[in-house]
Amino acid sequence: MADTNKEIILVTGATGQIGTVLTEALRDHYGIDHVLATDIKKPEVDAGRFEMLDILNTQRIKEVVQDNGITTVYHLAAILSASGEWNPQKTWNVNMNGLMSILELGRDTSVTKIFFPSSIAVFGLSTPRVHTPQDTVMTPTTVYGISKEAGELWCNYYHQRFGLDVRSVRYPGIISYQSMPGGGTTDYAVDIFHQAILQGQYTCFLKADTRLPMMYMDDSIRATLELMAAPSDKIKIRTAYNLSAMSFTPAELAASIKKHIPDFKITYEPDARQAIADSWTESIDDQAARKDWGWKHAFDLDAMTLEMLTQLKKKYNHGE
Ligand code: NAD
Ligand code: SER
Repeated sequence: MADTNKEIILVTGATGQIGTVLTEALRDHYGIDHVLATDIKKPEVDAGRFEMLDILNTQRIKEVVQDNGITTVYHLAAILSASGEWNPQKTWNVNMNGLMSILELGRDTSVTKIFFPSSIAVFGLSTPRVHTPQDTVMTPTTVYGISKEAGELWCNYYHQRFGLDVRSVRYPGIISYQSMPGGGTTDYAVDIFHQAILQGQYTCFLKADTRLPMMYMDDSIRATLELMAAPSDKIKIRTAYNLSAMSFTPAELAASIKKHIPDFKITYEPDARQAIADSWTESIDDQAARKDWGWKHAFDLDAMTLEMLTQLKKKYNHGE
C-alpha cells in the first residue's frame, strides 16, 4: 500500500471534469496539504492549494515540483476528442509535449510515480468492436486518440528504460453530476441528465443505437485510487489497462431516464462526433485489471441513472 503520509501530489488539469472530483478525493485520502491542484482555468470553489500552470511551460512545471517536493503526479491536462479535431496541431502539442514534460520529471526531480489517463479513443475502425481485448489492433482516427496511444507507449518506455512507476487506465466515457465534461464525444451522456431535469427533453448528437463503453465517476475515481495504491509488482501492464463498467446506447440511456421521468423525450441530430463514436469500440474486456489489481465496478446503467437524477435534482432544487 502507498504511504499516504509521504506522498506529495501534483494534479494537472485539476479543474476539468475528472480533476474536480479526483482532486477532492485525493485531498480526502492523502490530506489537504498534500495535494496541489493546477490548471490554466481557476477552480469554481476555493477548496485547497491551487496554482495556475500551463502544461506547456516546462520550466515552470519543474520549479513547482521542486518548490513543493512533489513525489506523485496525476497528469490529467489534455484536449479531448471532439475539441481536439478543431486544432489538431495544438491538441498534439498539449497532449504529447505536456506528457513528455511530466515523464521527464521522473528522471530529474523528486517525482517517482505518475498517473496518466488513457482512453477508449486509442481504439479504431479495425479494432475488434465487442469485448475489445487488452492487446489488440490500435488504429485511432482522432488526433486525441493518436496522442493517447503514443502516450501509452511513452509511459511503457519510461517504465522499461528508466524504472519510472507510471500507471495508466483506458477510461471509458465518464459520467458525473459534480462537473461538466470538456469537449468529448461521450459528453451527451452527462448533458442528457441536466436537460432531462431542466427541459424534460434532449437532442442527442449521436444516433440512437451508438453503443459506447461508459463509467460512473465514483467508479473511475475508485479505479484510479486503487490502481495507484496497488503494490508495484501487481502492475503488469505499463501501457494502460482496459477498464470497463457498462456499455449503452443513447436510446437505452433515455429508457433508463424515462423510468424516473416518464414524459422525457429524446430526439437525434447526429453531428461530426458520430464519426468519432463509430470509430470506437462497443464494449471492453478488462480481465487484466480485475486479475492484476482487483478492479470491480459498482455502478450499472440503472444505478448510475438513479444516482445522477437524485444528485442533479438536489442541485437544481427539484424535490421529488
Ligand atoms: P476536461 O477537458 O474536463 O479537463 C481537462 C483540463 O485540462 C481542463 O480543465 C483544461 O483547462 C486543462 N488544460 C487544457 N490545456 C491545458 C494546458 N495547456 N495546461 C494545463 N491545463 C490544461 O477533461 P476530463 O474529462 O477531466 O479528462 C481528464 C483526463 O482524463 C484527460 O487526460 C482525458 O483525456 C482523460 N479521459 C477522460 C475521459 C472522460 O470521459 N472524461 C475519458 C477518457 C480519458
Ligand atoms: N470521453 C472522452 C471523449 O469523449 C474519451 O476519452 O473524448
